[in-house]
Amino acid sequence: MPLFNQRMADAIASREQQGLARKIATLDGGNSTSLRFENQHYVNFSSNDYLGLATDPDLALAWQQGIDIYGCGSSASPLVTGFSYAHQALEERLCDWLGYDRAILFSSGFSANQAMLFSLLEKHDLVLQDRLNHASLMEAGQMCNATMKRFRHNDIAHLTQQIDGNTLVVTEGVFSMDGDQAPLREIAQVTQGKAWLAVDDAHGIGVLGQQGRGSCNHAGIKPQLLVVTFGKAFGLSGAAILCDELTGNYLTQYARHHVYSTAMPPAQAHALRCAVDMIASQQWRRDKLAELNDCFNQHLADAPGHIHTNTPIKPYLIGDASQAVALTHLLRERGLWLTAIRPPTVPQGKARLRITLTANHTTKQVKQLAESIYSLTQD
Ligand SMILES: Cc1ncc(COP(=O)(O)O)c(C=O)c1O
Repeated sequence: MPLFNQRMADAIASREQQGLARKIATLDGGNSTSLRFENQHYVNFSSNDYLGLATDPDLALAWQQGIDIYGCGSSASPLVTGFSYAHQALEERLCDWLGYDRAILFSSGFSANQAMLFSLLEKHDLVLQDRLNHASLMEAGQMCNATMKRFRHNDIAHLTQQIDGNTLVVTEGVFSMDGDQAPLREIAQVTQGKAWLAVDDAHGIGVLGQQGRGSCNHAGIKPQLLVVTFGKAFGLSGAAILCDELTGNYLTQYARHHVYSTAMPPAQAHALRCAVDMIASQQWRRDKLAELNDCFNQHLADAPGHIHTNTPIKPYLIGDASQAVALTHLLRERGLWLTAIRPPTVPQGKARLRITLTANHTTKQVKQLAESIYSLTQD
């Protein structure tokens, strides 16, 4: 008899015993600041919709117009018949905005990261990753033919001493669970002429830099490879790898997640181009985030688990996973929706609340959250 059933049941039981089992909640309005769960309303502090675009009527209209023009799905992978003028226009707009020759589109950030590492790296290459990089990068690094090593989080000395031979250094611009920023200027200096640099800016694009051009623009650097994802500040989904002409041509041939996967719907590409225009021109969204950021940091400045960040990602460290979950339940009783982030997503003993601010929150809501966390975590 195959062992699959027993193995799966054991794995689930083990997660349950450790109090780490995950459960999907069906929500109404999970992409907005006000969500409904089992007929109760909550202020949502868990979405990655940093700029508040996911429910923006202009963006919704752009997607509807895209459907009117292009129909529903793309019907094929890009190299067959799935690549339309909408995809081309999006690629060109991204290149223009971010200052690259080429942008290669993917259906998700997960697949863009995997395609980047799998296609670029060969045996005898070295990939050096910040140890807090996203699961998509870590997994690809472990599975590809190159040797993967990790460097201590944001530790330039540890990174520098490991560069050896044909090396690709990979970091996030803004770390997804910690909300802190990579020291990109220093990383670019130590890799200059010695290694290639890839930056996954899933959480910095749209939020940081001039006209929202992201962490690299903010730091004044241009890595060889820049991954931007559209499921967070863009309010939609998908991703792109920005690169030079040669790398773009190479990825078009060898990035299997691009070549062998149905292209994103053309209407979505049309909406994404509109999202770029909104991100670039609507500075008020970033100004609003900065105001909320200051409000949050000020209110929790001397709270024990508060970690100061300059991004909309606000970790509040609890440590013990079950205590983190218990705190989310208490916050829910006050109408506040937050998610506890537990191992294996974060290391053992580092369970936390992951609070995210968006341009659609109000100062009043942020104050209420900060005061609730403060009062519930005082002994
Ligand atoms: C840093 C980082 N990279 C990549 C991804 C994956 O992006 P996507 O959700 O588009 O697959 C995520 C998603 O959470 C992320 O946080």
